[in-house]
Amino acid sequence: MTAYPKTAALMARGAEFLGSEYAVLCGAMSWVSERNLVSAISNAGGFGVIACGAMTPDLLDAEIAATRALTDRPFGVNLITMHPMLFDLIAVCAKHGVSHVVLAGGIPPKGSIEAIKAFGAKVLVFAPTIALARKLFRSGADALVIEGSEAGGHIGPVSTGVLAQEFLPVLAQDHIVFVAGGIGRGEAMAGYLEMGAAGVQLGTRFAAATESIAHPDFKKAFFRANARDAIASVQVDPRLPVIPVRALKNKGSEEFTAKQIEVARALDSGSLDMGAAQLEIEHFWAGALRRAVIDGDVERGSVMAGQSVGLITAELPVATILANLLGECEAALDKRQKVA
Ligand SMILES: Cc1cc2nc3c(=O)[nH]c(=O)nc-3n(C[C@H](O)[C@H](O)[C@H](O)COP(=O)(O)O)c2cc1C
Repeated sequence: MTAYPKTAALMARGAEFLGSEYAVLCGAMSWVSERNLVSAISNAGGFGVIACGAMTPDLLDAEIAATRALTDRPFGVNLITMHPMLFDLIAVCAKHGVSHVVLAGGIPPKGSIEAIKAFGAKVLVFAPTIALARKLFRSGADALVIEGSEAGGHIGPVSTGVLAQEFLPVLAQDHIVFVAGGIGRGEAMAGYLEMGAAGVQLGTRFAAATESIAHPDFKKAFFRANARDAIASVQVDPRLPVIPVRALKNKGSEEFTAKQIEVARALDSGSLDMGAAQLEIEHFWAGALRRAVIDGDVERGSVMAGQSVGLITAELPVATILANLLGECEAALDKRQKVA
């Protein structure tokens, strides 16, 4: 018997798909979503996702094994599509019988969805347009995450509220669609669930949880920040396909501008081609995020955070955060039913 019956009913499809008690995913966050946070989320009834990021296959192998030692509940693995060893990473997931793989960071390359489905895992994808979402479903994707520009980390240009209005009426009846970006309280979850979402994905809200290994200074920066401090990076050179990143404004934001100018010059001189330039930018982010999350350098590192950071004022255990979200969602659904 759940304490949140209306929420559970609206989340039933998503929870069944994930194999979790509640269809609340903690989106993969590079350096943050490792064994401790992922197992804590799954143990609390949500769905944790390991961020593979730039890990080698050996490191991913060890991380999956360590996570499994901490939870017997399902969790997923997030792979970045442009990782040069993507298919080796998929093989590691196959070896461990990972139940859900999230393909992020770009259009899944040919054969990747098939390779994941071949060992029986479910595939979650991101898509910025309905046409691409439909194509990915036809190619075998099992679920879609729509993520709005309020989110932390790499972002698209459109807000969650607009994406939800665009995608959910068209796709949510026949497909599993999770909504991400800017969700900090349960009332917002209730809204997206009522619009047909199978569940929600949060990142920022969980990054500063007690079980997150993020440096205490990284968490303190979250508690201090307002929504308006979490800004999207600017693209300096229109030729460079730089995906904007939302992070707390600091000296590191300025260094990214300088990095783009350096990479653009290398493109001009022919010492880098476009693919290599893009990888160089991604390596910059991975390094800058590590500096903030692991070393606690919140001035020069990248403190990736979504706009919901303004709602976070204290470190709380994952189970408390989840209970608060579910409680707020249930109360909002109760209220609407009474009015009706
Ligand atoms: C610090 C940080 C790192 C992130 N790293 C990744 C990543 O490696 N891969 C990915 O697919 N999404 C990444 N994200 C996005 C989250 O998975 C999630 O979708 C997003 O945080 C949801 O929006 P919210 O931040 O508004 O809750 C990251 C987000 C944050 C805050």
